[in-house]
Amino acid sequence: KNKEGLRKIFNENKIDAVINFAGFKAVGESVEKPLMYYENNLFGMITLLEVMKEFNVKNIVFSSSATVYGVSEKVPFVETDPMGEVTNPYGRTKVIIEHILMDLAKSDNTWNIIALRYFNPLGAHESGRIGEDPNGIPNNLSPYITQVAVGKLEKLHIFGNDYDTPDGTCIRDFIHVNDLAAGHSAALNYLFNNENLGFDAINLGSEKGYSVLEILSNFEKAVGKEIPYVIDGRRAGDIAVCYADASKAKKLLNWEAKYTIEDMCRDSWNWQKKNPNGFKD
Ligand code: UD1
Repeated sequence: KNKEGLRKIFNENKIDAVINFAGFKAVGESVEKPLMYYENNLFGMITLLEVMKEFNVKNIVFSSSATVYGVSEKVPFVETDPMGEVTNPYGRTKVIIEHILMDLAKSDNTWNIIALRYFNPLGAHESGRIGEDPNGIPNNLSPYITQVAVGKLEKLHIFGNDYDTPDGTCIRDFIHVNDLAAGHSAALNYLFNNENLGFDAINLGSEKGYSVLEILSNFEKAVGKEIPYVIDGRRAGDIAVCYADASKAKKLLNWEAKYTIEDMCRDSWNWQKKNPNGFKD
């Protein structure tokens, strides 16, 4: 958001491309603090694009999300699906930014822009040194589970078991963070090897759906003990089933997810076990 600071970075370095990871991402917080979300996510992106334009750097990869498909019931989600009805300000910032990027590409065909639509990132680096350490009570499933397993939280609350799925809990497409990282390298290579691409949105998912109870049982195997849970009511805004059609990533980026759900749970747990208090130690 700091234009002068950005100009300094662009002046002092030779920059070929930019990846914008600097968005806020907590759905609940975005409902409570919408202005904070619009200010950070939108102004941050617009300021960055303005400075990129000044320096004639026109390759950018943006962290988008499967959330842009909204509350649709048609799975798998494919990039040709319309962006759907999004239920929270966080998700709306992703939709609005994709529109900004499309408009920009339309106005000037020398931009090369890719929005990567992440499904549900899980796992940690195998070293156990880089992992997910959310502030406060985790909103997302996997850090909640690992914090129960390590004894920081009492039990998992499963949000609903009355969905129209085989075991009644929601189904998601989990993707290992290392696969996600590799997807960004692949996107950069694609930008560098092509010209005048304009705007493209590409799903990064494993194409496989696992239910909340299946994730829990995979974590129990990784941890080697039972993880206590209770069934609570549904969480507002959740959809029953969400998984990707990732054939576009395969075709354009020559990328596909390689890690299994067992790898993801093992690596998340390895990180949590080595860092029971997150990065504070
Ligand atoms: C959520 C956001 C999505 C965002 C992503 C990353 C919603 C509707 N979607 O995805 O926009 O890009 O996080 O921040 O919020 N669950 C439990 N107990 C928990 C936590 C989660 O049962 O304590 C269940 C949820 O009901 C859901 C599944 O686990 O069915 C996955 O939840 P979560 O990890 O929050 O991801 P999404 O909701 O899929």
